Amino acid sequence: MLLYRLGMSSLAMLAMLHCTSTQHCPMWRQIVPCTCKTDYVDKVTTITCDKMTSFEHVVEKLRGHFNPEDRVSLRLAYSTLGDLYKRSFDEFNMTIVNLKLNHDVIGFLDPETFRSLTRVNYFSLADNDLREVPEKLWKQMPNVKTLDLGRTKIKTLSETSFSNLKDIECLVLAGNQISEMDPKSIPPQIQRLHIGRNHIKRLNNTLKNLTELKWLFINGNELEDIESQLPKFAPKLKLIHASDNLLEKLPQQLKNYPTLESIFFHNNKLRSLDGALSKSTHLQLAELEHNQLAKLSEEDFAVPSSLKSLFLAFNELTSLNNSLTKLTNLNFLNLKFNRLTEFSLEEIVDLKELRSIDLSYNRISTLKGPPPNLVDWNIKLTELKLDHNDLQTLNGALSGLTELLRLNLSFNKLRKISPEDFIGLEELRLLDISYNYLTTLEETSKTYLPRLSELKASHNLLTILDKDFHGLPVLCYADLSNNQIVALGRDLVAKTRCTIEHGVHEGTWDILKINLQENPILCDAALPDITSIMETNHTRIYGVSHCPPLNEQPTTSKPNAFLGYVPDSKTSKPIYNPPIEYQNEQEAQHTDNQTPRVQNVEPLSSGSPELRYEIHNNDPTIVEDNSNITEHLNVVNGNDTATAGSDNSGSKPPSGGNFDPVKQGKQIDKLASEIEELRTRIDQLSNQNQMLLSTKFVKDEKLSELQKP
Ligand SMILES: *[C@@H]1O[C@H](CO)[C@@H](O)[C@H](O)[C@H]1NC(C)=O
Ligand SMILES: *[C@@H]1O[C@H](CO)[C@@H](O)[C@H](O)[C@H]1NC(C)=O
Ligand SMILES: *[C@@H]1O[C@H](CO)[C@@H](O)[C@H](O)[C@H]1NC(C)=O
Ligand SMILES: *[C@@H]1O[C@H](CO)[C@@H](O)[C@H](O)[C@H]1NC(C)=O
Ligand SMILES: *[C@@H]1O[C@H](CO)[C@@H](O)[C@H](O)[C@H]1NC(C)=O
Ligand SMILES: *[C@@H]1O[C@H](CO)[C@@H](O)[C@H](O)[C@H]1NC(C)=O
Ligand SMILES: *[C@@H]1O[C@H](CO)[C@@H](O)[C@H](O)[C@H]1NC(C)=O
Ligand SMILES: *[C@@H]1O[C@H](CO)[C@@H](O)[C@H](O)[C@H]1NC(C)=O
Repeated sequence: MLLYRLGMSSLAMLAMLHCTSTQHCPMWRQIVPCTCKTDYVDKVTTITCDKMTSFEHVVEKLRGHFNPEDRVSLRLAYSTLGDLYKRSFDEFNMTIVNLKLNHDVIGFLDPETFRSLTRVNYFSLADNDLREVPEKLWKQMPNVKTLDLGRTKIKTLSETSFSNLKDIECLVLAGNQISEMDPKSIPPQIQRLHIGRNHIKRLNNTLKNLTELKWLFINGNELEDIESQLPKFAPKLKLIHASDNLLEKLPQQLKNYPTLESIFFHNNKLRSLDGALSKSTHLQLAELEHNQLAKLSEEDFAVPSSLKSLFLAFNELTSLNNSLTKLTNLNFLNLKFNRLTEFSLEEIVDLKELRSIDLSYNRISTLKGPPPNLVDWNIKLTELKLDHNDLQTLNGALSGLTELLRLNLSFNKLRKISPEDFIGLEELRLLDISYNYLTTLEETSKTYLPRLSELKASHNLLTILDKDFHGLPVLCYADLSNNQIVALGRDLVAKTRCTIEHGVHEGTWDILKINLQENPILCDAALPDITSIMETNHTRIYGVSHCPPLNEQPTTSKPNAFLGYVPDSKTSKPIYNPPIEYQNEQEAQHTDNQTPRVQNVEPLSSGSPELRYEIHNNDPTIVEDNSNITEHLNVVNGNDTATAGSDNSGSKPPSGGNFDPVKQGKQIDKLASEIEELRTRIDQLSNQNQMLLSTKFVKDEKLSELQKP
């Protein structure tokens, strides 16, 4: 076995040596500024010469350094080749298989220059000033399979444009100014065609006979109607990219393409799908965003369906109309920015692959759960976005989404959350209920969310937090900023212990961070005590608040079940009248005639349970003017500069004295959630990419142009 392996590896080495001896690059110094790289697998030497001053310059550098039999990929780019017309590529005495002349300001081309280039199968003249198809060259280069004439200012295609390219399979004409095409201009054997980003108004029967097509890009034109303009028959067609046109209808011919996998029709004026996709049983991705789709029906999609990603954002849908119930492979559904007024989980009960739905920016006021008699439902959603809707209540509709990881209910009109609303959300990590009208989270405390680590409830009307976290055993971050919170229950966090779930610290305990920015409690004179009591319970409070002047500030009444000021008149749950906010100067001037107080409150030592505060008048970033009575309480834990200055002058504070563990923690949290978001997005994109790339590409044909719309 070992011998065998040794044998194999020495064979491989021999093979390598063999290759190097037949095909290799010269010393870099000999050909500088050109560069050379050999791919031993494909047996192609890639030579790149950029910024050359003449063709002669290139010939001088390269001639004699390469074996005439070496297969060469030659790129001359960003160069001025003014003498090109009187020279010839055979002066190199090499076997050129790929030729790229890009960004060379080439206009006129003499066919003689290209004589002897019979081995070229990839030819790119992209990014030049050709203005017309250089059809006279094709006789010299009859073996071109892939031709890239992108962005060369071509205006018309005629019957003879490509007729001498008998082997052409892939043709890229993107980003030209094509407005006229002869019906016979595109060779019938073409497999991949990109005529995107031109000025085409009418396809003029050009595509009708292209039965070999696999990919078709006609995006970014001025097409209004392509009905009966696509190939009559295209058994291999997998992808159609027709975004950014003026199409009002999907062509019915889509029904004729049994292998169609991806369609991109975003940024058009589609009003309905008209059943055009109802035969596309292989369709995996449908990008239909930014249209005017107003209705969907059950007959709009094929059964059985392979559809995995459906993008319907930015349309005018008012109802899903049971149109999605048979999309059993659907994974990702985007419906944001439509006009839905209702969403029922009944629409998705059988979509067991569905992981993510974006329903944000609709007008949803009613949520409906799955039918009550249904025992077995397959919903395995992990992400649900319902932000920016009109929800006033959740109706218990979301209970039982046992796999849900992230739920966004921000920017709705929720006044109340009932205990049954979140029952069974056993995997939920992130709950965003910010920007609603919630006055209490008390009811939530009766639901158990065993994994919730982040709660966002800022911009509500919360006044008192009592036992509100009791159903949240592992909460690590609570954003309660911009509420009316005056008091925290002494037992608020008694049943909560932040536990890290991911990464190297998995399973370790951490500090629960509560953001109380812009809440009256930060103006409470007893704040240091409150902070310190919370601190002993592994909870850190932070935030900055605008406070009324001292003489109007509440002070904590006699000790009770709450930390913070609870007005005497009420016993357990007083209605708190928020103090007038003195946010602007004018208001400030005539309400305040005492010495303005500018506070920047900072605990000076991080570890110690007893927090000390210092009042500065010197924080220019927060308060510019002392006549401004706006007060800033900046509660942060640990100022390493101060610590370093007083007790341990020897050790330097990290990162230049501005190290702030709270801010850093927050930053890291933010990053973590951003990374999470990105990951979702990447998954999504790589899904799409896989689909795009699954169409196998001859390596030589790897055109960046074809991979972008
Ligand atoms: C090409 O190179 C070979 C070997 O180096 C040489 O024999 C031949 O004459 C050269 N041909 C031209 C046209 O320069
Ligand atoms: C359509 O094709 C005809 C030739 O059959 C040509 O004369 C005409 O200019 C073409 N029109 C467009 C818009 O391409
Ligand atoms: C397409 O093919 C049909 C039948 O083969 C032929 O009559 C027609 O002229 C062709 N059209 C074009 C534009 O090549
Ligand atoms: C709902 O679907 C039915 C057929 O399934 C269709 O006739 C009707 O137009 C659709 N309505 C809307 C509002 O989409
Ligand atoms: C919820 O949606 C809002 C609005 O789109 C967004 O700002 C917020 O970041 C989302 N929350 C989370 C936790 O992703
Ligand atoms: C801190 O924890 C202790 C026991 O763990 C509990 O009795 C006390 O109420 C907690 N204090 C706060 C402010 O939650
Ligand atoms: C007072 O504070 C507010 C809010 O921070 C600020 O916009 C305003 O410019 C301040 N006024 C003065 C005179 O500094
Ligand atoms: C820490 O205190 C020093 C001196 O009081 C101050 O200059 C610095 O800005 C403070 N740092 C932070 C992060 O607040």
